[in-house]
Amino acid sequence: MSANPEHPSDSPDARRVIALEKEKKALQQELAKISRERIEYLQNVSHQLVAPLHAIKWHIENLASGRVGVERGKKVLRSIYSQSTIAVHLAKNFALMSNLDADHKLSSLREPLEEVELFRLLINLADDFQPLGWDRELQISVKNGTPFEAAPPVLAIKPLISQVFSNVIENAVKYSQRGYEIIIDGAHHPRSNVVSVTVQNRGILLKAEDTNKIFERGFRTEEAKSQYPAGTGFGLYIAKRIVELHEGAISATPTEFGAIFEVVLPVRALEGKARQRGPKDNSSYR
Ligand SMILES: Nc1ncnc2c1ncn2[C@@H]1O[C@H](COP(=O)(O)OP(=O)(O)OP(=O)(O)O)[C@@H](O)[C@H]1O
Ligand SMILES: [Mg+2]
Repeated sequence: MSANPEHPSDSPDARRVIALEKEKKALQQELAKISRERIEYLQNVSHQLVAPLHAIKWHIENLASGRVGVERGKKVLRSIYSQSTIAVHLAKNFALMSNLDADHKLSSLREPLEEVELFRLLINLADDFQPLGWDRELQISVKNGTPFEAAPPVLAIKPLISQVFSNVIENAVKYSQRGYEIIIDGAHHPRSNVVSVTVQNRGILLKAEDTNKIFERGFRTEEAKSQYPAGTGFGLYIAKRIVELHEGAISATPTEFGAIFEVVLPVRALEGKARQRGPKDNSSYR
């Protein structure tokens, strides 16, 4: 079919130009959306980080004033410790977020695989988060004397796996009702050769229809938003991404009084899939 000279916009060239213009406009809109999201993300990051830093500054000013007695001073120091734990935890999540969005394979991550004893790791994390728990009269307990203690180590990237459990434990503290116990337990399942870890708390209720949504980036339940306005909704998304990189699974189940989170990690499935830690590697991360 030949172009109509009376209607230049009917020519194939003109149609191509129109199509290109349309495509350009769509791309510009997409770019503007990404840029808006990036700004929102950065605002969120700084907002989240500023809160604990402010609290630390305020506590230090209080101590420096010399008007605080010994007993009160101990309490203030404990709060400084808790708030620093939150700030470090948030900063790690934000750093991971950009990394995980860029990398999709375990082999492309810089950290090597190593044998991780989950029982030990969880004892250390429970210790780290306990001061945060004290602020809310919560006890964080890792069950000992159970099969968890005897579970074999799993091959994993330790700082990443540590962040998974940090995110789950931090939630358990944040969403618990004052005065209750957070119970961490685990087991080795020889048939599938996986280690499972559960973290159970009593607090805000989790609706059955939200159990999958809470792993989506940015999703927070209405209850969490109204009771605990600070939060990005990134924690469980990051946890899920990391667990899946390790070929494991993470899930949440509502209970009568709160929720139970389960992380399942294969013991040896990752052999040969990423660099393994050599004798010269030295990690201070627990
Ligand atoms: N232990 C829990 N009990 C009940 N609901 C939970 C629990 N842990 C998480 N949730 C729900 O899952 C949502 C997503 O959790 P996630 O850790 O991703 O984000 P967040 O805690 O809201 O924010 P951030 O982790 O960035 O501070 C929470 O907002 C809350 O609604
Ligand atoms: Mg969280």
